Amino acid sequence: MANAHLRPAEPEPSLNRVDGRLKVTGAATYSAEYPFDNLAHAVLITSTIAKGRIANINAKPAEAAPGVLAVISHKNTPGVPAYPPVKQPAERAPIGTAFRVFYDELIYFSGQPVAMVVAQTLEQAQHAASLVEIDYQTETHQTDFVANRSTAAIAVNVQRNKTSPFQDYDRGDPDALPSAEVKLEATYTIPTQHHQPLEPHAIIAVWEADDKLTVYDKNQGVKSAQGNLAQAFKLPREQVKVNAQFIGGAFGSGIRVWPHTVAAVLAAKQVKRPVKLVLGRELMFTSVGYRPFTVQKIAMGATKTGILTAITHEGTGQTSAYEEHLERTILATRAMYACLNVSTRYRLLNLDVNTPTWMRGPGDATGMFALESALDELAFALQLDPLELRLRNHADADPERNLPWSAKSLKECYRIGAEEFGWKNRKPEPRSMQADGLLVGYGMASSLYGFHRHPSKAKAVMQADGSVVIQSATMDIGPGTGTAMTQIAARILGVSPKKIRFDLGDSSLPDAPGQNGSATIPSVGSAVHDACKALKNKLLILGASMPGSILSSAWPDEIVIKNGRIYPNAESRSSVLYTDILKYHKLPQVEMTEESKSGPERDQYSMYSFGCHFVEVHVSPVTGEVRVKRVVTCADVGKIINYKTARSQSIGGVVGGIGMALMEESVMDHRYGRYVTSDFASYHIPVHADIPQIEVFFVDQPDVHVNPIGAKGLGEIAIVGVAAAVANAVFHATGKRVRELPITVDKLV
Ligand code: MOS
Repeated sequence: MANAHLRPAEPEPSLNRVDGRLKVTGAATYSAEYPFDNLAHAVLITSTIAKGRIANINAKPAEAAPGVLAVISHKNTPGVPAYPPVKQPAERAPIGTAFRVFYDELIYFSGQPVAMVVAQTLEQAQHAASLVEIDYQTETHQTDFVANRSTAAIAVNVQRNKTSPFQDYDRGDPDALPSAEVKLEATYTIPTQHHQPLEPHAIIAVWEADDKLTVYDKNQGVKSAQGNLAQAFKLPREQVKVNAQFIGGAFGSGIRVWPHTVAAVLAAKQVKRPVKLVLGRELMFTSVGYRPFTVQKIAMGATKTGILTAITHEGTGQTSAYEEHLERTILATRAMYACLNVSTRYRLLNLDVNTPTWMRGPGDATGMFALESALDELAFALQLDPLELRLRNHADADPERNLPWSAKSLKECYRIGAEEFGWKNRKPEPRSMQADGLLVGYGMASSLYGFHRHPSKAKAVMQADGSVVIQSATMDIGPGTGTAMTQIAARILGVSPKKIRFDLGDSSLPDAPGQNGSATIPSVGSAVHDACKALKNKLLILGASMPGSILSSAWPDEIVIKNGRIYPNAESRSSVLYTDILKYHKLPQVEMTEESKSGPERDQYSMYSFGCHFVEVHVSPVTGEVRVKRVVTCADVGKIINYKTARSQSIGGVVGGIGMALMEESVMDHRYGRYVTSDFASYHIPVHADIPQIEVFFVDQPDVHVNPIGAKGLGEIAIVGVAAAVANAVFHATGKRVRELPITVDKLV
């Protein structure tokens, strides 16, 4: 059972999840659950080879099966208008081409959608899919990262873009590393991992007319999905509607529009009926991206007193044969510590696999596993406490951009984390602590995550009955977006949260970014803040213009609003109701829409979230079984909007980090280029029994430079560094340094 204490004390009681009741009672409607009378069901047929071409498709037996409405493939697809005409003979797509569904006969990866059966019922579609006969011409595929590593290169897109952050980076003196007093070099490996949210990806596609499309699609950004589909099907944006109101987890798998979504839209066009497609768990391994297999080499130089003098960090990740997925793997290393001499390299390896994508703290979770493991290795070599080593190299300003931090309370995080964890009780020597016949290890790691704020709009409406509606096309993939936004609105307007409704997950709402990169609270939260403030001001002006209004002589700064009742100052006993104002002016509602975005401060400060994790593991000296016994995590993400949901996010991040450290690994059989992990029996994620007490702390100091609400992102920083903290604890317990995740028993005995 996860448990958490909060510090500092919660300033006001957290609002419970506004949609909690809908979710736990099953009343929330998810993408696959929208009812349609004439709904047809689709089943995808995917490639069994990793590279080659489709020689022949025999769809006749399937087409003749009961209930079948269509069997769609590249032979008879209605076609995606934006795709270029197919070349004869078919040519492999150049790098940078997003995968084209049912386009030609070429196969790029095992699991590629090659055909789709649409039928009256799901069972009929499944049965007919088993009757489709496909012959392939196989070509030699390359899916093995380790075997092909020497062919990795700078990404084509990076070569073309001189200002790309993934260009080779060097600062300071290149001779600093060879001449360092103490040196260390190590290579760290992270396997392919899959997001595996409990709700699989699903879509219902509905063509309301030949040029009007509505999709109920599980994704993390209704506006970007709308834009993508409009572009693909050459429709005006407003003729594509995307709804994704409830999402059962995503972790990055829903950031882009994937081939199966386009396939379902094509199918609905073909059969002229609403079509539902739900990905089974096996298809979740090849349809919606993954954390790429990544190998990182870190070299470090330091003085004997533990001052870092040089770091080189080379990261190589895998991508598909048609697209380049770049992630922040090496970027944190440039900003994390006050080191004068730093070099980073980033390379990609094209393999015959589907394209990876962002997953749970993408790039930084990968890079910080290597960096924070290496720091621990260096601390051991120097016989220095790992926390002390980090304090000695604390960056007081951003060493990469030579800018002050907008705010940074990392030292306070370290202090709180160490104290709450009892770090002082750690005996320095590995294998020196034991309990009940088990080896006990204490490990820690730092965490950072870049600040992302995108232009966002929100509309705030006060209705005649005093209730408030706030709207923005933002998303909730689980953290409780509506709850936090309601709380922001309630505080500004002085209205009870019970009177506020927050609408999201609908592309017809005011423009907002998708939920990714921990950007929702910083971006959309600011827009909600601004819209509510504008609405309040408008209402106050309307209120002051009423004859004899007590508000006409009030100082704006002194006005106090509670439960929709406006007092000219804190001492005043007389008040005006919002509803009185609307009534007097005979207005059914008053509304304001505001857009909020970053200003010049973006170039004046370096903006990051910071944090740290402390972990205790117990390891069996006999079986090598690792149990995480407790975790203390502390984050500095500026102002905390809602303690309860923030705490849940931190717990979720730590759980993801434990999975990454100890369990999660997608295994491929390279003879076939096919994953052998295809369900939860083979792809292990933590369950309740794996999760110990997790204590969450926040510094909770507003960062006044980032946005009007002082809040930075929390979702991703909660996982960044956790895997390193676990690995460091395992080293402390056992004396064995595992540099290849996950840390399974075979690597310890
Ligand atoms: Mo997150 S990987 O940006 O959903």
